[in-house]
Amino acid sequence: MRRIFSGIQPTHKMHLGNYLGAVRNWVALQDEDYETIYCVVDLHALTVPQDPEALRAQTRELAATLIACGIDPVRSTLFVQSQVPAHAELSWLFSCLTPLGWLNRMTQFKDKAAKQRDNTMLGLLAYPVLMAADILAYKATHVPVGDDQKQHLELTREIAGSFNHRYGVEFFPLTEPQILGPATRVMSLRDGTKKMSKSDESDYSRINLTDDADTIALKFRKAKTDPEPLPSEPAGLDGRPEAKNLVAIYAALAGISIDETLRQYGGGQFSTFKKDLAEVAVTALAPIADRLGRLMADPAYVDGVLREGGAKAAATAEGVLRDVKDIMGLVRS
Ligand code: AMP
Ligand code: TRP
Repeated sequence: MRRIFSGIQPTHKMHLGNYLGAVRNWVALQDEDYETIYCVVDLHALTVPQDPEALRAQTRELAATLIACGIDPVRSTLFVQSQVPAHAELSWLFSCLTPLGWLNRMTQFKDKAAKQRDNTMLGLLAYPVLMAADILAYKATHVPVGDDQKQHLELTREIAGSFNHRYGVEFFPLTEPQILGPATRVMSLRDGTKKMSKSDESDYSRINLTDDADTIALKFRKAKTDPEPLPSEPAGLDGRPEAKNLVAIYAALAGISIDETLRQYGGGQFSTFKKDLAEVAVTALAPIADRLGRLMADPAYVDGVLREGGAKAAATAEGVLRDVKDIMGLVRS
């Protein structure tokens, strides 16, 4: 059986990096031969301080955004992580099989811990163990994510392998990452060496899925570039991170290759290119914002989807957890 699991944190509105790097692929994969399970990972969001009311509102809004992007609650299971207790429970079991050295190596942990200094919480270190539990609670075989999650998925494979080896079983699959498309790592519009992120202070660093046409045009117009014209070949993008980023975004949104984008715009100025870029972005995003507006007016529908999704997910995850407990020697009575 081929089963996909992926997740997204409700820490802020969804941005273009989330969409092009992950969610657009989640939508497309529904048409292929997989069972698809998608999750709003609110427990992961708690690794940084959250305002309770804001977290609740963002969780619902993000679920609605995923539906607006094309996640179909009939073909996919869509749910909120904290509504399925098996994730947190399996995470504890895995934490007893995960050497600290593996976790201390995680670049995302090192970056975030360096920023938080003395205030670094255990949950931040344990974050990838919970992620492994998310995936393996469904014995997922494939996980579509952006490039930044590669290392966490390697850890998931190590945890699965270590469980299988320790107990002499072939129980968990070694999950394959699916890092797909021309924009697997969308960079900040203000600094081409930093990834586009929900936590960046400047809203000009990212395109939010809910930005209107004028805001999108303004953000691309202000996006950092360099004084050279666009190159005609991909090699000409080397050492030009901002140009490379905008070209990759254009290619992904227009559904063409980077080569083709450069054949079209090579030798030209950024001003013209940025106008066209804003236009393809608006064409792709306006219908999503429109659908989101309608879904936000119907919270009962969204809550119903999450309730049903949670029940369906729990049924699968509890079965896997039961088997894990049997394998590990925990008593069932
Ligand atoms: P997060 O917002 O960190 O929960 O990420 C949700 C999904 O979006 C994950 O699959 C990430 O890899 C992906 N993602 C986040 N930021 C970017 C980015 N700047 N470029 C591409 N993919 C991204
Ligand atoms: N760590 C992921 C991110 O920040 C989100 C996530 C949590 C996830 N659990 C997951 C992604 C399981 C894929 C599978 O992007």
